[in-house]
Amino acid sequence: MAKITVDKKKCIGCGACASICPSSFEMKDGKSVAKKAKVAKITCEREAMDSCPVGAIKIEE
Ligand code: F3S
Repeated sequence: MAKITVDKKKCIGCGACASICPSSFEMKDGKSVAKKAKVAKITCEREAMDSCPVGAIKIEE
């Protein structure tokens, strides 16, 4: 299991995570939220994390 978190204070709402990985991220009120607190397997989440311009996404394995 991997824990997915988005730092709301860091997120500038660019939306890259939600378009790269819509299964795990969605935009709410201009900020990204993790749809699931935990995922069984990392798929597109890592790419979303790497694509975030402000490093707001954290994956803990
Ligand atoms: Fe926010 Fe980064 Fe996603 S700025 S919308 S967490 S790509």
